[in-house]
Amino acid sequence: MSNIFLVKKKIDSFQKKTIEVSGDKSISIRWVLLASLAKGKSKAFNLLNSDDVKASINAIKKLGIKAKLKKNYCEIIGKGLNGYRYKNNITIDAENSGTLGRLILGLLINTNKKIKIVGDKSLSKRDFKRITDPLNKFGAKFKLTKNKNLPLSILGSKLLKPINYYENRGSAQCKSSVIFAGLRTEGTTLIKAKKSRDHTELLCKYLNLPITVSKKKNYDFIKVKKAKKIVSFNYQIPSDISSAAFFIILTCLSSNSSLTIKNVNINPSRTGVVTILKKMGVGIFYKNKKFYKGESIADIFVKSTKTLKPINCPVKLNSGAIDEFLLIFLVAAKAKGVSFFKGLDELNQKESPRLKWGSKILNLMGIKTKLTSNSLKIFGNPKINLKKKIVIKDYLKDHRIFMCSVIAALSFGGEWYIHDKNSIETSFPDFLKILKDLQK
Ligand code: S3P
Repeated sequence: MSNIFLVKKKIDSFQKKTIEVSGDKSISIRWVLLASLAKGKSKAFNLLNSDDVKASINAIKKLGIKAKLKKNYCEIIGKGLNGYRYKNNITIDAENSGTLGRLILGLLINTNKKIKIVGDKSLSKRDFKRITDPLNKFGAKFKLTKNKNLPLSILGSKLLKPINYYENRGSAQCKSSVIFAGLRTEGTTLIKAKKSRDHTELLCKYLNLPITVSKKKNYDFIKVKKAKKIVSFNYQIPSDISSAAFFIILTCLSSNSSLTIKNVNINPSRTGVVTILKKMGVGIFYKNKKFYKGESIADIFVKSTKTLKPINCPVKLNSGAIDEFLLIFLVAAKAKGVSFFKGLDELNQKESPRLKWGSKILNLMGIKTKLTSNSLKIFGNPKINLKKKIVIKDYLKDHRIFMCSVIAALSFGGEWYIHDKNSIETSFPDFLKILKDLQK
């Protein structure tokens, strides 16, 4: 079967449709890792069934933990905080997942064996020094390729000491990895972290682990002590706002359409996309808000928007929308005026250099942009209506580029040949199926 996805026509308007997208990727991976250190049987319902999460399950299996993917849930049978059993020189394949590759290093900081971490072509280009640097300070030893990349080997340490860590990129992966290392280390680890998604902190608090978080305007101050035990726990994973975002943007860019997306995680550290869309004039709001184990959940209602306003996007919204910028750029492409996004160096550190790709996709659509290493100016065209042929390929199989291109094609017309369809397996295998259902 061809791995190229062809879109030849805009989506027809859809009204009052309701969909549910898959489980949150960040929470799913964190659940797998924490359940692997709990004592006893933990179950997760609505765990994301994607390659990144399957790689996480394979990783803990390599560490001697039993895990089963059943029809409606996943079961992990942990043996407690010291329950990992494995031989020297094992290899863990993080595949495409930065979250798995980075978070697991924190959990393995106290190993007395050699463990090799490998990843796919995209992950092997990404920066791992950003996480081995703080973990080195705990006393752990690493050997990296070219001093910063995978494959890397973790050599562990017997004598760990707590650290003071300043996380200044707004990276939840770095913050979480250091929290995990702190849970393995005698003494108090102190973290000052630029705002980023806080699922790790919320899960740790729910599990009564020794962590305190004090939230300030721009930073969070986190104290972590060595954990004594993790009790097994069940979890109902809410839907992923980063997956919902594809359908939110499709709705606001389509004519005469409206959509409700059920049970989405609306943790304030993840809803930058909603705040930005509201500023751009999109009709979007929450219904049926509720709380679950520290997380906030709601149904998101969105409708198509005739006049989109440009935005000078405040930097403070960047981290809460970091995985949604490719989509937000599409909205800016249709806005009446010039939009400006800045402070986005981190976007080029993702599965592919997404700031560059965001600009490239818009240019292929005939939208003028001005790109620097950390900013993008977009000259919007409210009348955008494509007739030409556009080919999207050679983008390191970045799942979000594939799905964003499909949304662009369905919103703006033209004839799109989008390569590497199977990249959706990384984060959102049901993407095309949900899209098809929406068009019925
Ligand atoms: C993630 C954190 C973010 C995000 C990624 C998932 C997480 O990465 O882009 O998709 O689950 O912690 P960074 O930590 O690199 O910002």
